[in-house]
Amino acid sequence: MTNTNDLTPKTVCAECLKKTKIGYDDGGRFFMPHFKSINHVEVGYSRIITNPLTIFAEWLLAKFYALKDGLVALAAKLFPRRPKIYGKQMDSWLVGKIIFATQENVEVPIHHLPLEFWGRTKLGQWRKLSEGYSAPDGTFRLPFELRCARRFGIRSLRFEICQISHIYFKDGQANTVHNTFHCIKISKSDLIGMEYNLRNIPLCFWEYRTDVKNPRVVIKAHGKDAPQQYTEARIEAINEQMIPVELTKIKHLEQIKLDSDSITLAEIQADYPENLTVCIEKKLPGYTRGDDWFGERMMNGMNRGLFLPDTEEEGAYWMKYFGKHNYDSNDEYAFPDAMIKFRLKADGLPTPVAIKLRGPLNAINRDPWQERTFTPADGELWQQAKRVARVNGGLCTEVDEHFAGTHANLEQYAIAAYRNLRFSPLTTLLFPHLKEVVLINHTADGILLRQYIPSATAFTYEGLMARIVDVMGVMDWKSFQTMKPLSEAHSYAKAEQLFWDLTYQYVDYFIELNRKEIIRHWHEVFCFSEDLVNHSVPVFLSDTDMTHIDPRDRARFEEMKEYLTAQFCFDYDLPRQHRDGHLRTVSPLTLTSTLSPEQEKEEIQNLKKACTYMIFVATFLHTWANEHQYEDIGEVLYNCLGLRYGDKESGILAPESDLSIAPDLTRSTQMMWFSNLLSRTEYGFITRNEDHDINPYFCELLTAKKDEFAALGVIIEDIESRTNI
Ligand SMILES: [Fe+2]
Repeated sequence: MTNTNDLTPKTVCAECLKKTKIGYDDGGRFFMPHFKSINHVEVGYSRIITNPLTIFAEWLLAKFYALKDGLVALAAKLFPRRPKIYGKQMDSWLVGKIIFATQENVEVPIHHLPLEFWGRTKLGQWRKLSEGYSAPDGTFRLPFELRCARRFGIRSLRFEICQISHIYFKDGQANTVHNTFHCIKISKSDLIGMEYNLRNIPLCFWEYRTDVKNPRVVIKAHGKDAPQQYTEARIEAINEQMIPVELTKIKHLEQIKLDSDSITLAEIQADYPENLTVCIEKKLPGYTRGDDWFGERMMNGMNRGLFLPDTEEEGAYWMKYFGKHNYDSNDEYAFPDAMIKFRLKADGLPTPVAIKLRGPLNAINRDPWQERTFTPADGELWQQAKRVARVNGGLCTEVDEHFAGTHANLEQYAIAAYRNLRFSPLTTLLFPHLKEVVLINHTADGILLRQYIPSATAFTYEGLMARIVDVMGVMDWKSFQTMKPLSEAHSYAKAEQLFWDLTYQYVDYFIELNRKEIIRHWHEVFCFSEDLVNHSVPVFLSDTDMTHIDPRDRARFEEMKEYLTAQFCFDYDLPRQHRDGHLRTVSPLTLTSTLSPEQEKEEIQNLKKACTYMIFVATFLHTWANEHQYEDIGEVLYNCLGLRYGDKESGILAPESDLSIAPDLTRSTQMMWFSNLLSRTEYGFITRNEDHDINPYFCELLTAKKDEFAALGVIIEDIESRTNI
């Protein structure tokens, strides 16, 4: 414990960081309530199993499934699927074409899918009759011996279309595991001639949704038509961490339903585990509301904001959070533009010197162009303006950086990769980092995008969707650059650079090692790139006719464009593709399906950068946003994601004691539940390598930098290998 004489901000912050740090154990108790799956997590009442009898029944059911799995494993041992192909005179062919089950009229072939043709004898033994792959045009022609397939002893026949289910490393070598994606039973009596034609086989395989503007995969329900599944251990991790938090939320919701006066916001806060700001406030009251903390967190906390140099004043910077102005929004919550001016202190950390708010601050004056500027000389008003900026920064970071910048951004790469990469060694490089993001995004659709954010912030669902598309319109792997450190104290930027460099080193090593095979299967890279480009969102404002809009709107758009361009390192001058009438944001990795020696150097360079970008976003960038949520949005009055107008003229410029502008009790418990859910339930860490799917060389490179990262406040063991929460 710290001696009371040693209560300096530095020692207090260090002690509180240690005290409130989330651990990721995986124990588990038998009669502990649990979620059946991640998709049963709800912002209201999650579907959890609490009744001991039900838990016992669940246990029995689990045993039944284990027994069933055991029997399946026994059957596999008794009746192995041997690689030997039966038949000598291949005198017949199984033919057809595999295509995506798209709603469009164009036929899009699925290339390189592993295919198998099996017979099963009356005694249950498997006989492999043929195998092969779909060709680049989706067609296949599997030769087999007709007599062998029609033999009296053969009871049934099946044609199986397989996919890559997972990758694992053993003794440093990558192994690819296939599972059956689709099976077609064939009647023996139908095999009569030289050829049996299965015709076009449309598969709902990593299909793009058509109801949203950004690239998302079709999933109606987890466990039914999802293209991937979580591992059991991932679901266990959720149970272990979240059940106590879930029970706390349920208790609050019940209390609010029965008598909302029976519980206060302070009691709700106190029922959840202490976070960083609550801990610091207990030891150093007022410190987390001060200018030093504000600047430090904007630079090195969850926000990791961009400091845009002031064009008129040297040494001054602007951080800008754009509000609800041109997005569909509700009337309950404020969300003005918040522009914060910083200068650097002698210690290299930023301090805020002015805050400009543009847009309505109360329910009475709704003029969207009203502007007010505050400085530290404004006393209490300065404190209140900082809170508004902090809250806006929290929402923008969650929506723009966390959801759009990592989750949605990565999903577009994941879909394109899983649709197209099969023979290419890039599968072993990318799949371990791209897996599960589409599953968690599907869960986020319901609880975050449709339920929580529209009820706890100014965004409606439509407004939120439009914002995500806008921000994704400035995210391109090709122009991405790491953040330049502003000073020695800019630890986030230094850690980002360190991680990017080691990721590039790993990717460079991998691609050089597998260069020949990657080039041999360049067609897959081309198809990956085409899917990526064709489905990426239009460049921000490229579809907007700026000539007929209000000059003030135009100026604001230009300001937003300038800031977002710098924030996400977008280069408007790069040559980009026009596809389907839109200028597409994501640059192609390649525009050729076979690589000529003249093109090789540049295209391989592009590939290395794009792969580094995907892995960097899936690991370091996402982990940063995710794990710092609990520190920066884990105290309702410090930073909720939306302040209500209330009914007073002061509106959102009011002290924290004015609860009419704070989230209501329901939103407060839901907010605490959310920040716990997202920060506490991480699973799948690079160094822990739970699924044995991380290349040992990547782990080695990261482990070698352990001390350098620790000096910057980054614990390498906490960096996730993929985006799955
Ligand atoms: Fe996340």
